[in-house]
Amino acid sequence: AAAVPFYGVHQAGIVTPAQDRLHFVSFDITTTSRADLVDVLREWTKAAERMTAGEAAGDTGAVDGPIEAPPEDTGEALGLPASQLTLTIGFGPTMFDRRFGLAARRPPALVDLPAFPGDALDPARSGGDLAIQACAHDPQVAVHAVRNLARIGFGAVAVRWSQLGFGRTSSTSRDQATPRNLFGFKDGTRNLKAEDSALLEEQLWAAPGDGAPWMAGGSYLVARRMRMHIETWDRTPLSEQQAIFGRFKGTGAPTTSVDADDNEFDDFEFDTVTGASEPVIAMDAHTRLAHPDQNAGARLLRRGYNFVDGSDGLGRLDAGLFFLAYQRDPRKQFIPIQRNLARSDTMNEYVKHVGSAVFACPPGVRKGGYWGDTLF
Ligand code: HEM
Repeated sequence: AAAVPFYGVHQAGIVTPAQDRLHFVSFDITTTSRADLVDVLREWTKAAERMTAGEAAGDTGAVDGPIEAPPEDTGEALGLPASQLTLTIGFGPTMFDRRFGLAARRPPALVDLPAFPGDALDPARSGGDLAIQACAHDPQVAVHAVRNLARIGFGAVAVRWSQLGFGRTSSTSRDQATPRNLFGFKDGTRNLKAEDSALLEEQLWAAPGDGAPWMAGGSYLVARRMRMHIETWDRTPLSEQQAIFGRFKGTGAPTTSVDADDNEFDDFEFDTVTGASEPVIAMDAHTRLAHPDQNAGARLLRRGYNFVDGSDGLGRLDAGLFFLAYQRDPRKQFIPIQRNLARSDTMNEYVKHVGSAVFACPPGVRKGGYWGDTLF
């Protein structure tokens, strides 16, 4: 498939059909110089344009530079295609502290996320001044991109935490089949999708009147590392698993559908009652609590990935879902939805939020510009 264009009105990697692999990295900014920070963003932009086109990070690449200097590219992607690599940047709330004179430019929607009941957040896997989401169909290409951006930023930024994802847990386009998360359920069925143009304007892209004109055309990203207790899950009856999502595990169809065959995209009939006057979809089912009807119409563009980071030393897989969700305003979208879920979602018994971050992802870059240039 062709490379994904780096330049555009919006950053690539948001409505781009979700690629198979992820390397997400969060940085601390270690320089106190605004000029140095802008230099890094300029250098990163050049490298990102090249790498997303399948080229090496610098002009002289991995092997054509002076032999007495470290190469401008680390080399492990030599010969590999662009693999639909997208690189998407976001700025965390802490970048708007006093260091760079940006406090007055902090978007009102870029709030610090509140603590939610059940949170077990590890500070070493949370926050960050800056983040880059690298998605590609080849994990080596995504890792190469993050590695080279970290190398270029040396002395001005330092990696705070990073997360690899091996399988997408959402479709972001109607052309894509719905993938499955590690609970084995189809995930992304009722996601916001690239084709939903009117909804994207309403729910995904920041507008000039939203309080931070420099963010117009950008979007806000919430990242949550969610550990799944998959060993417990795997001992849970199918009926209970299906009740949590209100969906059949096989087809992904709502459990209110008459036949479970091929109606994944059927609407929920939340009011349908069985003979026992119990709703077929429980009041505390994940999909009922997350549904726009329960959240003043709020929706998300989910773009998360499965992860298994080996095991935890206690005989359990360190596995879960690295949840990524883009939206126009976390105050109206992620926060109220997560409050709803944290309170009573029956899924909570099987998941734990262990990492958290929020970023303002600026609009796309025009040729000749650089990442975030509307801010500086
Ligand atoms: C829907 C799984 C966490 C928001 C779904 C669906 C599944 C699922 C299987 C149904 C298919 C679909 O429509 O995509 C999970 C798992 C999670 C998780 C396994 C964590 C490990 C979250 C979180 C949020 C969220 C943290 C937001 C705070 C939503 C929304 C929908 C949804 C908005 C669509 C509801 C609708 O419109 O019908 N999720 N989810 N999910 N989830 Fe989650």
